[in-house]
Amino acid sequence: IAKYRPFPPVTLPDRTWPDQVIDHAPIWCSVDLRDGNQALPQPMSIEEKLEFFDLLCRVGFKQIEIGFPSAADTEFNFCRRLIEENRIPEDVTIQILVQTREHLIRRSFDAIAGAKRAIVHIYNSTSPLQRRVTFNHASREQIRDLAIAGAELVKELAPTIPQTEVVLQYSPESFSDTELDFALECCNSVIDIWQPTPENPMIINLPDTVQWTTPNIHADMIEWMGRHLKSRDALIISLHTHNDRGTGTAATELGLMAGADRVEGTLFGNGERTGNLDIVNVALNMNGHGIDTGLDFSDLPSIRAVYERVTRMTVGERHPYAGELVFTAFSGSHQDAIKKGLDLREREIGTTHNLAWAVPYLTIDPQDIGRSYEAIIRINSQSGKGGVAYILDREHGLDLPKTMHPQVGKTIYDLADQRGRELTPDEIRDAFAELFTNV
Ligand code: KIV
Ligand code: ZN
Repeated sequence: IAKYRPFPPVTLPDRTWPDQVIDHAPIWCSVDLRDGNQALPQPMSIEEKLEFFDLLCRVGFKQIEIGFPSAADTEFNFCRRLIEENRIPEDVTIQILVQTREHLIRRSFDAIAGAKRAIVHIYNSTSPLQRRVTFNHASREQIRDLAIAGAELVKELAPTIPQTEVVLQYSPESFSDTELDFALECCNSVIDIWQPTPENPMIINLPDTVQWTTPNIHADMIEWMGRHLKSRDALIISLHTHNDRGTGTAATELGLMAGADRVEGTLFGNGERTGNLDIVNVALNMNGHGIDTGLDFSDLPSIRAVYERVTRMTVGERHPYAGELVFTAFSGSHQDAIKKGLDLREREIGTTHNLAWAVPYLTIDPQDIGRSYEAIIRINSQSGKGGVAYILDREHGLDLPKTMHPQVGKTIYDLADQRGRELTPDEIRDAFAELFTNV
């Protein structure tokens, strides 16, 4: 166990974020077409990327990282097609990623020329591990100078494409594994060059590139940066969490409580290794607390269908909100409680009661995201009698008197046991009919 590093110390004993709640949506940026695409065993074709881009616009993303145009011709051509075919809606800003390397930055400017607005996202890795291994023992100064040179070049090139409004984004890649004072030094050096103002802010993106620590420590780091960065009112602080510890959503939510303004992520969490932050989760978690996120997931199944087709990935059955099974109750006591909650809600509609969604076991109304109540209750040998009555009533209009529930319930469970699987509503109706035909 001595092989692994201990947790880093908690940096902020006087942190304020534990008292916060999320009460508004951040700026969202989809990185599906870049971080998501680069992690696909078979990357999307240009046509597939175009279809995904249109989907992201329909969902409501106003910032979309469309690729790394200096890295490959297909990436470059995709960017050019978006611009030359006028496919970018007025209110959508494209973002492109580039390392802080001169020839790549120059090529990126060729790619974005003509767009109305573009976020040029420069990055270099900053952690001690990356400095030692990736940059061959580079010093802090050498790494900081990469950031400075990159920002200076973007500043020099921006006026050469006057029809395009250029916004700078800087990422100290591997931020969450970097000494805070050094991450701050790199970011502040870039801020000094770009000179953002509240009217023309720049984006400081603080990547949780590989999650090395728990979400609370990540949030402490975000809070600390927010307190110490220069020109805070001229900055948009952005989160970019991955999911190596399975805590991408928690790290983002706590990061927002710690003061971040913007969130980068992907649909259904696609991305390198364990994936990027799943924006569907964070946004729908907010919806569940009545926050308007500006993202439209009212037809999640069709969004999922496009995603699965163009990425050739699958969404797991237990995926929050989108998974096949997540609005299905197998336990009888859960089924009873859901039925009571739904019935109560139906009775209260049109009354003066507070109609905030409050159905046991269902954090949101599945219908709000295009899922249906039909799938909520299934019957297998573990279900309670209330579930059988519910199916007969809801699916077939048969309102059984309470006294019949035990007998009908037993017949149905025995049948489910016999067949070794759950029964469909039609099989339940048939078994019910047979029970009384034989009486
Ligand atoms: O995960 C990461 O650090 C990145 C950067 C390039 C922003 O994707
Ligand atoms: Zn990433």
